[in-house]
Amino acid sequence: MKTDIKYKIQQILNEIEYHDKKYHGEDNPEISDYEYDRLCSDYDKLIEENFELNFLKRDKVGYLPSNQFKKYSHLKPMLSLNNGFSINDIKEFIKRSKKFLSINDNSLLELVCEPKIDGLSISLTYQNGILINAVTRGDGNNGEIVTSNIKTIIDIPLKLKKEFPELIEIRGEIFMNKQSFTELNKIQIDIGKPQFANPRNAAAGSIRQKNINILKDRKLNFYAYTIGEASPKFTFDTQYNLLKKLKKWGFIINEEITKVDNILQIKEFYNMVLKKRDSLNYEIDGLVYKINKKDYQDRLGFQARAPRWAIAHKFPPEIAESILMDIEIQVGRTGALTPVGKLQKTKVGGVYISNVTLHNEDEIFRKDIRIGDTVQIQRAGDVIPQIVKVIKEKRPITTKKYIPSEFCPSCNNRTYKNINEAIRRCTSGVNCPSQAIEKFKHFVSKNAFDIAGFGEKQIIFFYNQQIINNFSDIFKILNYKDFLKDKERFGELSISKLLKSIESRRIITLDKLIYALGIRQIGETNARLLSYHYNNYDYFCSEMKKSKDNTSDAYQTLISIDQIGDSSANDLINYFNNEINLKTLDELLKEVQILDVHYKSMQSPYSGKNVVLTGSLNTMSRDEAKNKLQNLGAKVSSSVSKNTDIVIIGADSGSKAKKAYELKIKTMNEEEWLNSINLKKN
Ligand code: IVH
Repeated sequence: MKTDIKYKIQQILNEIEYHDKKYHGEDNPEISDYEYDRLCSDYDKLIEENFELNFLKRDKVGYLPSNQFKKYSHLKPMLSLNNGFSINDIKEFIKRSKKFLSINDNSLLELVCEPKIDGLSISLTYQNGILINAVTRGDGNNGEIVTSNIKTIIDIPLKLKKEFPELIEIRGEIFMNKQSFTELNKIQIDIGKPQFANPRNAAAGSIRQKNINILKDRKLNFYAYTIGEASPKFTFDTQYNLLKKLKKWGFIINEEITKVDNILQIKEFYNMVLKKRDSLNYEIDGLVYKINKKDYQDRLGFQARAPRWAIAHKFPPEIAESILMDIEIQVGRTGALTPVGKLQKTKVGGVYISNVTLHNEDEIFRKDIRIGDTVQIQRAGDVIPQIVKVIKEKRPITTKKYIPSEFCPSCNNRTYKNINEAIRRCTSGVNCPSQAIEKFKHFVSKNAFDIAGFGEKQIIFFYNQQIINNFSDIFKILNYKDFLKDKERFGELSISKLLKSIESRRIITLDKLIYALGIRQIGETNARLLSYHYNNYDYFCSEMKKSKDNTSDAYQTLISIDQIGDSSANDLINYFNNEINLKTLDELLKEVQILDVHYKSMQSPYSGKNVVLTGSLNTMSRDEAKNKLQNLGAKVSSSVSKNTDIVIIGADSGSKAKKAYELKIKTMNEEEWLNSINLKKN
């Protein structure tokens, strides 16, 4: 009985898909909208009547997704790529990889070269071959569910063709081709709406479009290039064969993709694609090289948010000319004053630019940039556009020299510039409105507390009303509900939505909290590293306080954390030994709950253990060993301290081994370690 229903459901789905293709893909519908809607409602009814088939649920066309997209935690994180800018960077990448894998430098290493599409990545979950979820990258761990919008993209199969695993996440790039982009902008002009700056923005805007009728006219495409999670039975041997498999399942694979095994071939491919770049119907900002063998990929693993087995080779920036109309000062979260150049709006590589960063006053003087100058500007991918040089031949006599502001444009306090530093700073801290507002903006931003609906406008309003003076005040806004009701610009609806989203963010993980505080040099990666190391807020805080004494174990432990250098350690210590900051944190802790963070890995005897590697290993490079340990859940440090749990001792080890014996720390040799993780020494 159930099989019959499943069969019927599948049949209707096939029909719907066929008409989708006719309607969206070929602009040549065979049935009326009415008939199409009937088909869909028959399908939906069957699903509703058969609760256990709910996972096959199809979002109705014409259905408006809720105002806020639901969140989804990727089964495997969506990573980004490390960038290379020259052929030398790529040579280094190959050399590094071979060293890691202990492969002879002269032997060949096969790579797959793929164009790097300038779109937005998406993760598509297929269960039993049926598309059940489409999720944006978000912060790499959590994205937004945009399934109904994705289903309007003809290149994305609603069901996979033959021999698919029970569950698989397909990853790739959604983009708008150049032709569709030009057509869309023509329509935007006709209907009096602003034009999109580039195809990427147009594609991203479309994916988050709430009105499905508008979305239907935005033609988007999709190239698949990798997978995320998959049922354990599914395996593949090379990236190239994975792409073939994706094609068999019904995905479109970029037709330029090729296999290479030496640097000469890479150069040839790079030059060929660069030459072709303008004539391709989609925007690319470089190439991606991926080590072909899956076994190598697994061994190389990941570092921070990017795989070690792949690199993006970025194309050179695009260049154009404009006129510098003015220079304004922006006050950053940490008090840095950044001069920003206001340009005559100019198109650079398909994107309209009206602002450029000028970095600092030294840079302005070094390049002799004056207001009124004609300047050469460049844009490279996501990087903020910059001025390359002044076109001196075009300099009019009316140009004005830049005079650094002695006073902060926000709080009027005197600014300060250390003779050894390029940056001028406002030292008023949170007493400077701009700094305070920037700190709040950072605190509520997507990768920190992620309070939806709390934008710059709201922050400025609450700040000016003195409703928010420090972080904890955000969680007390509720007390002003009646007052806010009276404020015309905050209709009941928008304020209740904001309050709801604030309430939903009272629980946060340690890594996000550390990042949210906006401590200098403590970005997302460092915040994550620290949270993996200390796990718990109270412990972290007390260790930071103790680290003030640089002879303490706490300090030694802090600086032995891989990638935390002296300078970021000092910023952390200064932050956690400042009375005002500690008071701010105490207040905040009364409002929010901080969840412990543990490195997600298989349970192993090394989970949570502090491990130090010393000496050289026979079977693998030190980097590979470190990566293996991290995958086993260990925290790998570079120096031995009282907090070290295990020291793995290779050949020719020196003082670290000695210290381990002195401190009576557990030690292992290479063979013992390999045995403990079921790897044999050969
Ligand atoms: S691979 C581990 N391949 O580039 C796999 N990414 O800068 C990581 N992108 O977030 C991605 N074309 O949005 C990969 N052929 C390609 C790509 C590609 C474009 C984008 C993708 C990624 C970003 C990283």
